Parts: sequence; structure tokens; C-alpha cells
Amino acid sequence: MTAPDPSLPRVGLSADEVLTTTRAVRKRLDLQRPVPRALIAECVEIARQAPSGRNRQQWDLIFVDDPVTRRAVSEVWRRGLRAEFDGGSTTRMPFDSDQWAGIAASLRHLDAHLHDVPVLVIPCLRVEDRTVLNSIRGQAGNWGSVIPAFWSFMLAARERGLGTAWTTCHLSYEREMAAVLDLPFDTVVQAALSPLAYTIGTNFRAAPRAARGDFMHWNKW
Ligand SMILES: Cc1cc2nc3c(=O)[nH]c(=O)nc-3n(C[C@H](O)[C@H](O)[C@H](O)COP(=O)(O)O)c2cc1C
Repeated sequence: MTAPDPSLPRVGLSADEVLTTTRAVRKRLDLQRPVPRALIAECVEIARQAPSGRNRQQWDLIFVDDPVTRRAVSEVWRRGLRAEFDGGSTTRMPFDSDQWAGIAASLRHLDAHLHDVPVLVIPCLRVEDRTVLNSIRGQAGNWGSVIPAFWSFMLAARERGLGTAWTTCHLSYEREMAAVLDLPFDTVVQAALSPLAYTIGTNFRAAPRAARGDFMHWNKW
């Protein structure tokens, strides 16, 4: 690990605070303030310590800060947002809840401004070929080798005053996004897309969740 640059600001949160207050930030992204590449590099340094299957570290992050490419990326993302998709309905949060209405309103804001966000990040997975994702074991091993790294990146970003939001809607048009980004579709699989910007204020709170007991099973399901 290289030492963090003391000139780059930190929020000063505890580990538990970072873990419980890293929200999907859509409305409170500062669209005017540039994000220094050195700060992003620090977050990547943290992410490199995430676990990966057999320590293969087969993940990459594509950062898009060029305005023309950001616009092209945003257009594909918007197409995905509007695409028909049945992601299943198993949920602990009813879609007619107030919380869901809040998410929908915040998503509309991101939809309107995605191309203005200073940086867009696309986490990717390197594979020999896409058939490795045909089995549950292959999926668990491969997705599990990129998702922890990207979540670590997002947590490190939070501690540095940056906001992120995990989104997957553009994957309905993954091939089109690959063309925009010049990435080899057969061997590089996209996992998500997140905005990356300073947040307007840093006072995020823990969010409503189902009761802890609902998640826990002891000895048997
Ligand atoms: C796998 C996954 C996919 C998601 N897809 C989207 C998405 O396409 N668009 C979006 O705005 N948010 C998306 N989210 C963000 C969730 O809506 C958000 O995490 C959830 O509402 C809880 O809010 P919080 O992270 O602020 O606690 C996704 C999150 C995950 C983990």
C-alpha cells in the first residue's frame, strides 16, 4: 500500500460508519466539482485488497471522465433504464412503499443528469470466455471476484467525500456499451455502472432495512 496523500481530504469516519452510511447517491452528487484522478487512484489501491477467487484479481475499472464519452455512456444507460426487464419480485421492501417512491424520484434525477456527473465507473470482469458464467459455481466464483473489489472502492470513495450508486440497468445493452468503451465483449464482462462525484454534504445516515432477525438462520434454514 502506498501512503495516502495528506493533501486529499478525508471525511474521518469509523469503519462501521463507512459500512452503514455508504448510500446510493443520486441527488446529492456535486456535478460541478472535478474529482482528482489521484483520489480515485487511492480508492483503487484500497479495492486491490479485496478478496478474489484464487487471488486471480481478474477485475478492471473503467473510468470515464471525457464529456463526449460520458454522454455516449449515459445514452446507453438510459436505454437500459427504459428497457423491459423482469428482475424477479422477491423482496423485503414492497414496491408500493414510501421508500421505493423515494428511490424512484432519486433515480429520475440521476436519469436527467448522468452525463453531467464528473466520472462514470464501469467495473468489469475478465473471463477466458463467457461460458464460465453458465453454472452457479462459475457465477459465484466470478461475480464474487469483482463485486467485493467494487464495493471496497465505493466504501473508500465514501471516506474521501465521494458518492457512488450501484446500477445495473445498462446491462440490457451491455454489447452496445462495450462498443462505446472499445472493450472486448467476449472476454470482458461488465458488472455495473456507478456515478462518481463529490457529495453535497457528507452527512449520510443508516437506511431503513428489514429486521435483523429476518436475515438470520441458525443451523438450518
Ligand atoms: C445489484 C444492484 C443493482 C442495482 N441497480 C440499480 C439501478 O439499476 N439503478 C439505480 O438507480 N440503483 C440501483 N441499485 C441501487 C439500489 O437501489 C440501492 O442500493 C438500494 O435502494 C438501497 O439504497 P442504499 O444503497 O442507499 O441503502 C442497485 C443496487 C444493487 C446492489
